[in-house]
Amino acid sequence: MLASACRTLLARGLPAVKASPLTAPALCAAAQRLTYQETSRVFTSSTFAAQLAEPAKAPELAKAPEPAKAPEASSAPLDEKPFVEADAENVVMHPSMARSEMHPPADDQPTLGNPASAGGKFADSYMLMHPVYTKEYVEGVRATHKPPVKIHEKVGYYGVQLLRRAFDAATGYGSEMNERKWLARFLYLETVAGVPGMVSGMLRHLRSLRTMQRDNGWIHTLLEEAENERMHLLTFMQLRQPGILFRAAVLGGQAFFFNFYCIAYTLSPKSCHAFVGYLEEEATKTYTRAIQDLDDGKLPQWTHLTAPDIGKKYWRLAPDATMRDLLLAVRADEACHMHVNHTFSHLDKDAPNPFQPGSVHVP
Ligand SMILES: [Fe+2]
Ligand SMILES: [Fe+2]
Repeated sequence: MLASACRTLLARGLPAVKASPLTAPALCAAAQRLTYQETSRVFTSSTFAAQLAEPAKAPELAKAPEPAKAPEASSAPLDEKPFVEADAENVVMHPSMARSEMHPPADDQPTLGNPASAGGKFADSYMLMHPVYTKEYVEGVRATHKPPVKIHEKVGYYGVQLLRRAFDAATGYGSEMNERKWLARFLYLETVAGVPGMVSGMLRHLRSLRTMQRDNGWIHTLLEEAENERMHLLTFMQLRQPGILFRAAVLGGQAFFFNFYCIAYTLSPKSCHAFVGYLEEEATKTYTRAIQDLDDGKLPQWTHLTAPDIGKKYWRLAPDATMRDLLLAVRADEACHMHVNHTFSHLDKDAPNPFQPGSVHVP
């Protein structure tokens, strides 16, 4: 019965939900009986989130709606405001980015270059998000650097520099790179890059459970980052299958890094987010150099290579998208991770997450 009531409220639009006398727990229980898409509509609505965040205002929100405005509410688009208001000055939503889960494409037709359908997740996918970029946007991404000032930033910065130099020396990274070397580097680094988001999301989830307090919205952004990095890995896996030694190195690296990051994040979340911010700076530099090598004709096997299908579907690339288009999209993802983690490294752990679910935010 509650599920039915919730469906009715959804059908009438979010203003109706806002004005409903039902309590938030009751809506939660009802939403559990809904389909995935219906549930997503409930939990991604900022109005519903506002109800949960501000229980003191519940009586005011529960005022009966004006009958004359009901038809207008049923046809009005859902509120697209952020989950919580962004308070960090440097958090700006790029004009080409917008959530589009309420207006998904009818099929897997490419949406590259169509700002109206950029970002967010689609009803035809179980993925947490599908970053979709315009051509102009990905071409404009540049490797940037945030000078470390505070102690936790210096810990993150010098930690990354130390690891990068050791990794470069161990893998023979240098001026002579070919397609095979680039792919080995991408594959290994992506197996590492997918760890921090999942670990920090898991630790914040556990903290929320044991303290019985809200997380304030960070978990979804961290899990989106982890999934995004894993999609980088799975896309490059379509181009090269690693051997047993490579897989053993991944196993050893994960055993070390997972435990290291768990302990480090427990001790100093800010240092860990700064670490990931600087790690993503290096990732953006690496993909920028790979794109430059491609443009300079140093990677002839990739010049006319079509991007793997899994990548074309994930980033909603055109059917004839090339390896260059793929690298541009991956670089844009890394730049977004950089911005997100540098921002998190300056926020108190109990501060609201300024990033909207399913969207990409860049400076
Ligand atoms: Fe990545
Ligand atoms: Fe990344």
